[in-house]
Amino acid sequence: MQSIIPVKLPQNSYEIHIATNGLSDIGKKAQSLNIGKKILVISNPEIFNFYGQTTLDSLTKAGFDVNYHLIPAGESYKNLESIRTIYDVALNLRLERNSTMVALGGGVIGDMTGFAAATWLRGINFIQIPTSLLSMVDASVGGKTGVNHPQGKNLIGAFYQPKLVLIDPVVLKTLPEREFRAGMAEVIKYGVIWDNQLFDRLESASKLNSLDVLDTELLSYILQRSCSAKAEVVSQDEREGGLRAILNYGHTIAHGVESLTNYEKYVHGEAVAIGMVFAGKIALRAGLWTKTEAQRQDDLIAKTGLPTQIPLDLDPEKLIASLQLDKKVKAGKVRFILPEKIGKVIITDEITSEFLRSCF
Ligand code: GLY
Repeated sequence: MQSIIPVKLPQNSYEIHIATNGLSDIGKKAQSLNIGKKILVISNPEIFNFYGQTTLDSLTKAGFDVNYHLIPAGESYKNLESIRTIYDVALNLRLERNSTMVALGGGVIGDMTGFAAATWLRGINFIQIPTSLLSMVDASVGGKTGVNHPQGKNLIGAFYQPKLVLIDPVVLKTLPEREFRAGMAEVIKYGVIWDNQLFDRLESASKLNSLDVLDTELLSYILQRSCSAKAEVVSQDEREGGLRAILNYGHTIAHGVESLTNYEKYVHGEAVAIGMVFAGKIALRAGLWTKTEAQRQDDLIAKTGLPTQIPLDLDPEKLIASLQLDKKVKAGKVRFILPEKIGKVIITDEITSEFLRSCF
């Protein structure tokens, strides 16, 4: 599998390379970017254990002066303290304006490395090597970088585009199955918001609930279509002035569910799956789409082994109240992304709390 998807932007366009065993070619790919000699690879111990040596060897062989820095795995380390440890290493290594940080890991490593690269010396080069399905199809593309504040997720950050995204599907073999399914929630999202052919293809697969049941061709199709969807949306609206908000389909409810369950019960993709099913219900009640289409979406989510229901012990009133804290609330109005049909959504702030109440 070898394909290149361009992310076309007014400034700083770049490419997503999807390449089987591409990790061992990262050195050559980096050479072609016209960057300086110094590279700092940022990863976590687990991922580095699997893929660090291949990455370092390839970069060293290509003539780069390579170092690495590891941050413990997990969302709880996605904070300014971890960023400070990256700055300390950057200082010791005397990284320069043309030096490069490489993110080798999932969304947490990618977001933090991007933020450190955006801010060190007011911006140095940055390459994304995502290792989870979720970061391959979503977090690594589009330039959202940042860390959490104790009061909320991703409150500190910057839009900062990488020079290259390298996706090597082979690394998915070490991804836990639950994380694989969580990534599939974002893949299904692209089917609903943008690409009805992707949706149809997923629908016609007999099973989707683990990497083992996907043939290489389907996996390749999933990666290509998801990255293309994200690239097209980001190309049209890099800084989320309008269209890009559709990428948050399912996320309004998801954020409420995640925060009310203390980020412990669900991983992000699972909460997004629940959020998409609920958004589908709102759209149905609002007469935006048909029962058949809502059912198709819910069946596909269920087939992937993802949860579909808001937990019964979660108080609807608390959930409705929590939506007011969403980053995207404007003038007190909660913004929803709602489907009109498979492959097309609208953005609306006209869903009242009362209407929401009637959807439970
Ligand atoms: N994950 C949503 C976005 O990149 O805009």
